[in-house]
Amino acid sequence: MAFSPIVLSHYQARPLLEARRAGQATACTSLDLNRSRCDVAFDADGVTLPDGQRIAWRIIERVAASENSCYRIGDDAEKIQTYSEATGRAYSLYPTSLAPTLLVSGLLMHRIKDTDPYHDTLAKIKAATPRGRVLDTCTGLGYTAIEAAKVADEVITIELDPAAQEIARLNPWSQALFDNPKITRIIGNSYDEVQRFDDAYFAHIIHDPPTFALAGDLYSADFYAGLYRVLRPSGRLFHYIGHLNSASGSRVARGVVERLKRVGFRQVIRRPEAFGVVAHK
Ligand SMILES: C[S@@+](CC[C@H](N)C(=O)[O-])C[C@H]1O[C@@H](n2cnc3c(N)ncnc32)[C@H](O)[C@@H]1O
Repeated sequence: MAFSPIVLSHYQARPLLEARRAGQATACTSLDLNRSRCDVAFDADGVTLPDGQRIAWRIIERVAASENSCYRIGDDAEKIQTYSEATGRAYSLYPTSLAPTLLVSGLLMHRIKDTDPYHDTLAKIKAATPRGRVLDTCTGLGYTAIEAAKVADEVITIELDPAAQEIARLNPWSQALFDNPKITRIIGNSYDEVQRFDDAYFAHIIHDPPTFALAGDLYSADFYAGLYRVLRPSGRLFHYIGHLNSASGSRVARGVVERLKRVGFRQVIRRPEAFGVVAHK
């Protein structure tokens, strides 16, 4: 299904302003955060899109001035952000030159240093090798669920905060999360939701939690025991942790590995390129 709302960040807006300054009458740009490209025409007031819609220069200038936000474009430019009454956290879509990431109370939910959220996701999927029925414990923008669904039979993905999913709905890169019939979305706390599944229900699990400070329960031995129970024998868990060679990453990783082994996982293998570990049942 095509994604029709126009979503722009400074990565699109600034080149449009430069093209105007250079005296161009047209430019090739993206109206969906670099998922696709199209030609637009310039005049004194703004740009005309292929379907005849218009965006005023003042709107493009506003978007261009903002480093850290993505905007939904209508009569005005509306920042893609929300506040959750449920969790007291602020969510916004944070632009990169490719897929955007999710900012939760100021914390980035994907890697953007020396990579981007799309390639960060591909690294996780390569380490996780999802097949069969997959549990994705933390939906976020749905990137791991979307990529897993390309190779697995079915993906069940859980998101704590409806506000995070509101942001995903507005993200052109998240649309398969809502359109792909192989993906089932659950809103709930993974800690509780995992208890509802039968033993050995999943062939693979992708566990991509926020940092320990935001979701300590999702790093607990109790929770890992639940993951172990719902994983089938010989199943695999990929657990994102963070930079394994940083001081905090290696400290968290040590605890994670110890607790995973304690609840029964064997062969817990460090995957530094994916910033996580793979554990086998
Ligand atoms: C690192 S992001 C996940 C990124 C996601 N895998 C993706 O590809 O876009 C973590 C997400 O987990 C959600 N979350 C936090 N605590 C949770 C919990 N207890 N159960 C389920 N989701 C949770 C956050 O709201 C956030 O959207």
